[in-house]
Amino acid sequence: MDLRNSVESGTTLTPSPLITLRLEVNGKKHQVTVSPTARLVDILRDGLGLTGTKISCEIGRCGACAVQMDDKLVHSCLVMAYQARDKSICTIEGLAEGLGEELAEGSANEGLHFIQEAFLQEGGFQCGYCTPGMTMAVKALLDVHPDPATEQIQEALSGNLCRCTGYAGIIRSIRRAVNHINASEDMRNEASFIQDINRMDHYEFAHKIGWVYEHSPWIAKKAWESSPFYDREELMQTMSAVVQNADASLKLSLLRAHPDLGTRLKITDASQKEQKGAGLDQLSNDELTKFQSLNKQYVDTFDFPFIMAVKGQNKTTILEALQLRLNNTYEQEFSTALKEVDKIAGFRLDGLFQGRG
Ligand code: FES
Ligand code: FES
Repeated sequence: MDLRNSVESGTTLTPSPLITLRLEVNGKKHQVTVSPTARLVDILRDGLGLTGTKISCEIGRCGACAVQMDDKLVHSCLVMAYQARDKSICTIEGLAEGLGEELAEGSANEGLHFIQEAFLQEGGFQCGYCTPGMTMAVKALLDVHPDPATEQIQEALSGNLCRCTGYAGIIRSIRRAVNHINASEDMRNEASFIQDINRMDHYEFAHKIGWVYEHSPWIAKKAWESSPFYDREELMQTMSAVVQNADASLKLSLLRAHPDLGTRLKITDASQKEQKGAGLDQLSNDELTKFQSLNKQYVDTFDFPFIMAVKGQNKTTILEALQLRLNNTYEQEFSTALKEVDKIAGFRLDGLFQGRG
């Protein structure tokens, strides 16, 4: 690419003395011959036709010309041509092409970078002059801080001036982009965890997974025979099917392996954590008496402990459920309790997949 031609066609570039330099823009290598007074923004716009990068203030104040140079955000109106020698530049056009980034798959705008998709969804595109630079600033931020604090967002946007609408839509867009990163991260964690457990032998598998069904590693042992598993869902469904297909006495032993809820009788660490979350360690005397009385009535009636997945519940909803379920027939309650066991196992499995188990 020789920018002397653009001088002849009337641009502001000075024809001499000229320098030749190589640089990479959006993954493509270029050689350009330019005046030493040319700026990176001139190379991009006039030399390479990448007009997505805008020029506004030309003194480094507005951020309209922001691009990444060797992964750092720069104002291309302030970068002299020689400073871009052998550098790798990413412009808004490179972002749209993906450059190895994860794209917003499945969206109506497939092919957009997920930051652009987030801007689109949240009304972050406010004007054509500022948005390319804003988007590049957000990319530079999220490259370094994938889950930025508010101050980091403010700092990152401090070089990009908006004089029209303000920053609310842009900040919402950043939050949406961050959610996308976190969701992608969860998926990667899940994929890596499932690979790990698919490599486990029978014993390792039961040791790692067996506890999600209270004191009942036989479920994981049986489920392992169906490995490898495609994902968390398939693993959970397999274990759940082991329970469903077990004979009645095994199912009963599974129910009886659970601790009494709210009575602080022998309970496992995992159950203690779950009960604390539901506020069952903060009962008044009256509440404790009521829980104990209903629980006794329950155990006398059904001959297994009251089981409820307490995540998202509180002592009031648990007490209501206990009262209600006392009206069930034995068969209804047996089935309800097993469903709750599955829910508990599901929550515990989620914790394992998220590294909290
Ligand atoms: S045009 Fe470069 S900062 Fe305004
Ligand atoms: S987004 Fe360009 S002036 Fe506000």
